[in-house]
Amino acid sequence: MSSVATRLIHWHKHDGRHHLPWQGSRDPYAIWLSEIMLQQTQVATVIPYYQRFMQRFPTCQSLALAPLDDVLALWSGLGYYARARHLHQAARSVMQDYHGNFPQQQELIQQLPGIGRSTAAAIAVFAFGERCAILDGNVKRVFARYAGIGGYPGTVKIQNLLWQKAHEYLPERNARQPIEIYTQALMDLGATVCTRSKPLCTACPLQQDCVGFRENRVAQFPAPKPHKSQPKKETLFLMLLNQKQILLEKRPTTGVWGGLWCPPEIMAGEDIARYCAQQYGLDARLVADMPPLDHTFTHFKLRIHPQLCHVVSAAASPQQHTRWMTLEQALQAAIPTPVRKLLRQLILSAEGSVVS
Ligand code: ADE
Repeated sequence: MSSVATRLIHWHKHDGRHHLPWQGSRDPYAIWLSEIMLQQTQVATVIPYYQRFMQRFPTCQSLALAPLDDVLALWSGLGYYARARHLHQAARSVMQDYHGNFPQQQELIQQLPGIGRSTAAAIAVFAFGERCAILDGNVKRVFARYAGIGGYPGTVKIQNLLWQKAHEYLPERNARQPIEIYTQALMDLGATVCTRSKPLCTACPLQQDCVGFRENRVAQFPAPKPHKSQPKKETLFLMLLNQKQILLEKRPTTGVWGGLWCPPEIMAGEDIARYCAQQYGLDARLVADMPPLDHTFTHFKLRIHPQLCHVVSAAASPQQHTRWMTLEQALQAAIPTPVRKLLRQLILSAEGSVVS
C-alpha cells in the first residue's frame, strides 16, 4: 500500500479543491489573511470577506496603515474579532520589526500576534514551501480516525499524540511529493470527505487502513469535549433613538466584541431615564421591550434584552467613544452580528412606521 502522503496527493488531483481565491498565490500576506479567516469559519463564508478585504487592503503595508476601526468594519459579521485585532497588530509588527518583509520560517511566523503553531505551519508551507506539519480542527479529526486515537483532542496528551502523527505522515523531501499539495489535500479531505457528521468513507483514499473505519467506530473519533454546561448571561441593550439616529458606544479593545460599536449596555433593574441623564445628558423614555435575542459565544450564551428608547432631548455632543449614527451608517460600521440584526429590525419597523 502506498504512503498516506502519496494517496492524499493522488486523491487531490481529481477530488481536491483547486479554485479557492487564495490558491495559486505565494504572497505570504494573502495566504496569512486566508488562514486567519478560515480559523473556525467555513470556506463559503470566508470567500466574500476575503475578497473585500484584499481589495481594500491589498498589502501588509496598507493594512498596517489603516485605523483598527476600518479593519473591524470589514470583519463585521465574521465573528471572533480578536482575529482582526491581532491581524492588524501583526501587520504593524511586520512593517516595523521586519521592514515589511514577512518572516519566512514557521518558528518566526508563529511569534506574530494571533498565529498559532498550525497556522504558522500552513503559511510556511503555502508561501515558502517549508516542510511543516499542520494540525487544525479538521486535520485532528482525520488523524484521530485514521490512527484510532481516542480521548479529547483538547488535552495536551492527545494533542501531542496527534502532532506526532502529523509529523509521521509528512511526505518525503521529494519533488514528486510537494508539501503544498499534501497540506491542501489534508485540509480538503477533512472539509469534504472526513466530515464531522456523515463522513464519505467510500470516497476516502485512506479508508483501507483507517482504524476508525476498520473497527466501525468512525463516529467515536475524535472524542467529544467533556460536557460542561455553558454559562448563560443576560444583558440589556439601550436602543437609544433620536429621530433616525442611534447612539452607539465603542467597546474597550479587550474582552468580547473588543473595539466594536454596540448600544450602551445596562444592568437589569437600572433606572433607564436616570442612567441616560447621568451618562449621556439625555432625556430618554423607554418605549418598548424588543424581543430578546440569543447569541452563542465559544464559552457562554448571551441573551440580549433590547430596550427601545426615544430621546426627547439630547446633549450637544456625545462623550468620547460614543457616536450618533443613522441606522444605515451604523450598518456600515464595525458592529457584531446581533447588533446588525437589531438595526435591521429597527429599519423594518421604521418602514412600517412603528418607530417614528
Ligand atoms: N482551512 C484552513 N486553511 C485552508 C485552506 N488553505 N484552504 C481550504 N480550507 C482551509
